Amino acid sequence: MTENKKIAIVGSGLIGSSWASLFLSGGYKVVLYDVGEAQLQTSLKHVHDNLVKLDEKGLQRGVLTAEEAFRNVSTTTDLAEALRDAFYVQESTIETVEFHVKIFAEMDALAAPETILASSTSTIPASQFTEHLKNRERCLVVHPVNPPLFLPLTELVPAPWTSESTLHTATTLMTSIGQEPIRLNREVLGFGVNRLQFAIMAEAWRLVADDVLSPEDVDKIMSAGLGPRYAFNGPWATTHLNAFGIRDYWKRYGPGARRVLADFGPTPSFEEEHVIEKLERSLNASMPLDSLKTFMANREESLAKIAKLKKE
Ligand SMILES: NC(=O)c1ccc[n+]([C@@H]2O[C@H](COP(=O)([O-])OP(=O)(O)OC[C@H]3O[C@@H](n4cnc5c(N)ncnc54)[C@H](O)[C@@H]3O)[C@@H](O)[C@H]2O)c1
Ligand SMILES: *[C@@H]1O[C@H](CO)[C@@H](O)[C@H](O)[C@H]1NC(C)=O
Ligand SMILES: *[C@@H]1O[C@H](CO)[C@@H](O)[C@H](O)[C@H]1NC(C)=O
Repeated sequence: MTENKKIAIVGSGLIGSSWASLFLSGGYKVVLYDVGEAQLQTSLKHVHDNLVKLDEKGLQRGVLTAEEAFRNVSTTTDLAEALRDAFYVQESTIETVEFHVKIFAEMDALAAPETILASSTSTIPASQFTEHLKNRERCLVVHPVNPPLFLPLTELVPAPWTSESTLHTATTLMTSIGQEPIRLNREVLGFGVNRLQFAIMAEAWRLVADDVLSPEDVDKIMSAGLGPRYAFNGPWATTHLNAFGIRDYWKRYGPGARRVLADFGPTPSFEEEHVIEKLERSLNASMPLDSLKTFMANREESLAKIAKLKKE
């Protein structure tokens, strides 16, 4: 793509250090920026651990070994130095509009005009923090899914003024490190991932609240049924394969789907105490809070195996 291989990571927490590892593994040079030296040292350790994990699981994003890739990372607490000569910046800091307005104004002033400024934000459309920037056409949201090392999906969400060439470079960059970018044509609340995710969670909540299913059985619908199927085919490919093509599917099942959807209750507040208690009791039993770290590590192992399988 471009001769310049320098990428700046602004905010080197969980997501920032995951991005750093993916870019390094893909052969880029990365500088981590954060507010303090202590945070940067911790992040470097996470980046190293991540690179080793990618190696161990055969999920490297290029030709470098973990140790080779790790030689291409540096750190700084000086934002100007971080952005100098970078062709792409991935901001991964704190999730507030006010802070995004502030950090994007600083980055817009410091970065060369053609440097792409991407935000990892899960919820804030770029139009809310880039409107008044001098070079707002080079800004967009590049939203990963946790854990990014093992879930390749990346949502690209342009503001109305994001340029085609910005989207093109971001897409090419993501593809070059083995991520799977998708592109929203316009900004919507929740982007794509959280709109689908919350639709599922709302019905999952109602099924437990109405005592139709236990929390365990709701989880099983996904883990033993819909989840594995969706791991390989999304809803459209699934419908296409579940009948003789998608047109046939909707002809057969459209009326039934309409009846089921008309039966849905209202959007939950997600605050009903008796539901929270029921869910908490169930999850306390299967995944006690004091061993959550172990379960998180297990989840990572499983996702890595699926990532490997899909790569093959
Ligand atoms: N955690 C997730 O599952 C997830 C998934 C997708 C996107 N995101 C988004 O990624 C972003 C980062 O999330 P995270 O989970 O990595 O959070 P985190 O708390 O792990 O990391 C935030 C980092 O920002 C740094 N920071 C704080 N103030 C700063 C400042 N003034 N300047 C520079 N850096 C500063 C912190 O030191 C920390 O390293 C958020 O916008 C979040 O919405 C998170
Ligand atoms: C990264 O490091 C490798 C070897 O350690 C080196 O060959 C390569 O040129 C470096 N990449 C960049 C972009 O500096
Ligand atoms: C779940 O466990 C936490 C702490 O481990 C405890 O505070 C909470 O009351 C438990 N909830 C239920 C409903 O059992």
